Amino acid sequence: GRIYDNKAFPIHLEPSKTYKWCTCGISKSQPMCDGSHTRLDGTEPIKKRPLYRPLVFTVNKAETYHLCNCKQTNNKPFCDGTHRNTEVQTAVSS
Ligand code: FES
Repeated sequence: GRIYDNKAFPIHLEPSKTYKWCTCGISKSQPMCDGSHTRLDGTEPIKKRPLYRPLVFTVNKAETYHLCNCKQTNNKPFCDGTHRNTEVQTAVSS
């Protein structure tokens, strides 16, 4: 997905809940999906086969997790340090 941020997002998650991690990078409720992936081209919602779908996940323990917010991790939805790459760091000016 699109690079949203150049750092991980620490968040407290509970095992009793189901989460939807944004894979497309355009959600306004990062790091979670807000349904924006159906409007990637800014026009009508893509209902049949959107390019991106949220990653639905749960956790085993109630604790703080570092979710990927650059959307380039190889351990979705968790941060694997990929955001430290020059490409990600320079893509986001903060
Ligand atoms: Fe990004 Fe849903 S808004 S996957």
